[in-house]
Amino acid sequence: ASIDGLAKTIRPRKPHRAAVIGAGAMGQGIAIALAEAGLDVWLMDQSADALKRAQAGAQAVWDRAVQRGRLGQQNRDALVARISPVQSYDDLQDAEIVIEAIIEDVAAKQAVFKALDATLNPDAILATNTSALDINDLAKVTGRPGQVVGLHFFNPANVMKLIEVVRTDATSDETLVTAMGLARQMGKVAVVAGICDGFIGNRMIEQYVRQAQFLVEEGAMPAQVDRALEAWGMAMGPFRMLDLAGNDVTATVRQRRAIEMPDMIYPTLPDIVLSRDWFGQKVGKGWYDYTSGGRKPLE
Ligand code: NAI
Repeated sequence: ASIDGLAKTIRPRKPHRAAVIGAGAMGQGIAIALAEAGLDVWLMDQSADALKRAQAGAQAVWDRAVQRGRLGQQNRDALVARISPVQSYDDLQDAEIVIEAIIEDVAAKQAVFKALDATLNPDAILATNTSALDINDLAKVTGRPGQVVGLHFFNPANVMKLIEVVRTDATSDETLVTAMGLARQMGKVAVVAGICDGFIGNRMIEQYVRQAQFLVEEGAMPAQVDRALEAWGMAMGPFRMLDLAGNDVTATVRQRRAIEMPDMIYPTLPDIVLSRDWFGQKVGKGWYDYTSGGRKPLE
């Protein structure tokens, strides 16, 4: 059945209580998005410091919204109260959906899925934010593979509109429509992806960025490539995007991919940029120069 057809015939469940495992960069954004969608959120991390940082991060987002007149103080306080930091699985017993966002390691994620499966109500849904792991490997360690699904957010998770809902070999239709419904409740655009290398967004962006960098190696200027693609309809050209994401951060992804895909040829220019510590906007220099305040093309 088509996805739209499914949504008409199967009623999605509407969860009110969610949990997020892992309070890092993604966990923080996911907790914010869930709270803003009206859910109560337990945010769990093995590190008390990570929990403190994530709480402070969420509060800073909402404080900025208050300062800009987009959020009232009372609503800000209600949002802050919706996120409860916890460190034990026992505190999550009443969660109807859990989104796991710990480190990208299959054994570590399997251990989390086993612990959640043993603790949560049998009808709770277990979702993962994995970027690249085979979610079947997580589903199979649980006694509820039909209720396991991918919910792949993009960074920052409270801002970026796209969520890829990843269907495993066993994901039930009810789980799928519930996950799609939750994504929409968070104001996101939800698309269904099968389990495949990079899902949809990252699979496309990798090749797009690679070709942009090859172009520069062949003599184009980053600013010209960006202008062309922005005029063509991309919200932000590839080099502005790389400078914003951080050239050190994207290098980690490239290095991992070079191991996973040994036959893929990569441009060498990003490594030169990296060797000069031109990490992007945050350090003042990357594919552009930001040292004088604005964004200047490199000479
Ligand atoms: P991060 O390193 O910022 O955060 C991971 C957090 O998980 C840390 O606070 C750590 O203390 C905690 N943690 C580790 N093991 C744990 C355990 N067993 N139980 C509880 N907490 C544990 O990582 P980040 O960037 O937030 O990524 C998390 C997941 O999201 C990964 O699977 C990653 O592939 C995926 N992802 C990352 C994106 C990104 O742009 N950073 C985008 C989309 C997905």
